Amino acid sequence: MTVRLAPSILSADFGRLAEAVSACEAGGADAIHFDVMDGRFVPNLTVGPVVLKALRRETRLPFDVHLMIEEPFRTLDQYLEAGAARVSVHVEAEPHLARFADRVREKGAVPGVAINPGTSLHALDELLRIVDFVLVMTVNPGWGGQAFRAGSLERIARLATRCKELEKNVEIAVDGGVGPDNAADLVKAGARLLVAGSSVFGKGGIREALSALRVAAEGGLTWGTERY
Ligand code: DX5
Ligand code: ZN
Repeated sequence: MTVRLAPSILSADFGRLAEAVSACEAGGADAIHFDVMDGRFVPNLTVGPVVLKALRRETRLPFDVHLMIEEPFRTLDQYLEAGAARVSVHVEAEPHLARFADRVREKGAVPGVAINPGTSLHALDELLRIVDFVLVMTVNPGWGGQAFRAGSLERIARLATRCKELEKNVEIAVDGGVGPDNAADLVKAGARLLVAGSSVFGKGGIREALSALRVAAEGGLTWGTERY
């Protein structure tokens, strides 16, 4: 049992993305998290498949693609062909999650569902049988550098309990306001993949930030499961 770290390049210098992904690999990251925003599902506009494809040559790390876009199925193949290893779409944006998951698996990638802080976890019940991971948003999606939302730990713990009840081995990933100060608690609550943007690409070095995050996150594993 381990915890994986996926730096979000949304907080990197967009003029130097190739260097950023290489530095993440050298610094011990397990995946690169891509925040795709379309200016509609969320107000911000970021990268698309062209950037994904260009960066695919720069690292061996798997690409974890978080689609914050409307009608994600329309362009899904482009991300899969550009080299996505994992893809999540929002439960709020995709009514045909089973069709989405089938397509992602057909292309040899791993399907996940992302969920906004304001959406009931009940929306996931059926989906836990369909996807391999849930990306729990702990900020309102749209920008990096926002504060971790209070109440999110309890929400993650509730989801972890639900996965156990259903005997579903679904990975819980967490995205938004993650850093060394809350990583242990997140892992204790049941998270096994942590997405982190500003805490990795902040002031200090990427390697130092990733190792601080890893030490903190692995600290959470030794605590055993706790209830919130
Ligand atoms: C938010 C994005 C996140 C974000 C995380 O909409 O999905 O991946 O970049 O950045 P931090 O870690 O700074 O909250
Ligand atoms: Zn994200």
